[in-house]
Amino acid sequence: MATLTQVEMNIVNGNAGLPVIQVEDVHKYYDLGETKVHALRGVNLTIEPGEFVAIMGSSGSGKSTFMNMLGCLDKPSSGKYLLEGTNVAQLDKKQLAEIRNRKLGFVFQGFNLLSRTTALENVELPTLYARLDKAARQARAREVLEMVGLGDRLDHFPSQLSGGQQQRVAIARALVNRPAILLADEPTGNLDSRTSVEIMQIFQTLNDTGLTIVLVTHEPDIAQYAKRIVVFRDGKIRRDELVKQRPRAAEVLKTLPQVDENDAELAEINDVAVLPVTIETATLNEAR
Ligand SMILES: Nc1ncnc2c1ncn2[C@@H]1O[C@H](COP(=O)(O)OP(=O)(O)O)[C@@H](O)[C@H]1O
Ligand SMILES: [Mg+2]
Repeated sequence: MATLTQVEMNIVNGNAGLPVIQVEDVHKYYDLGETKVHALRGVNLTIEPGEFVAIMGSSGSGKSTFMNMLGCLDKPSSGKYLLEGTNVAQLDKKQLAEIRNRKLGFVFQGFNLLSRTTALENVELPTLYARLDKAARQARAREVLEMVGLGDRLDHFPSQLSGGQQQRVAIARALVNRPAILLADEPTGNLDSRTSVEIMQIFQTLNDTGLTIVLVTHEPDIAQYAKRIVVFRDGKIRRDELVKQRPRAAEVLKTLPQVDENDAELAEINDVAVLPVTIETATLNEAR
């Protein structure tokens, strides 16, 4: 068994040559007093560095439960989960927070941005844990916002941004601590089809640079942009296939009509899209 220092070294340095994610015979039960929900029923999955995996499956099939486990927001009831070789079950609360912060970036359907905070400040927030001075933290936040095409929107508040722009802020926030893995649960669930492809373009570009991505989606069109599709049913993996001839989002975008991001109608959609945010933010904070 690894000593505590080895575990901590792993968290900091990663473990070259190992899969980023190794899941072995994982089960998850939710205990609801009289009844138990068996949400994951013997899941095995290995994800290597640089993979781009789309997880699909109907509602209730266990996708979010699985993602929460990958994101160290929840632990399996039985079975093993190794994150870059580190057995997550061995970690205490502080180490879990550290591993989440260093290795994982999260993107959710509801963006989860703080509404009275600018794009730049939203993205800067996770860097508070990093040992960097204010100027370095701001420079990093600016850099990732530029990377997602929002260099000219740094001082905008979420309500002044379209849904797609808000999701790009959320992606920048997920990237600011330079994670090894990006985890995204239905990131295009609140977006129109062109904007969804724009988000997939960002993901493909990030993946091209070596970032490992795991994305949950129920849309087959979106899943096609990944390199590998894993399908869940009733808490088990039923299919696991490589995508043949995956489309390049950048090429597909050339064939889709432009949408005016300042469109009044879009602004209305944004207001609706912001609604589910509070609950997920609360869950996230609690988990931290
Ligand atoms: N916190 C929870 N407490 C109890 N049951 C839950 C909880 N979260 C999910 N479940 C149940 O676990 C199963 C899988 O849910 P989930 O992972 O959210 O599926 P999906 O994301 O694929 O829709 C469902 O039957 C769901 O009702
Ligand atoms: Mg879900």
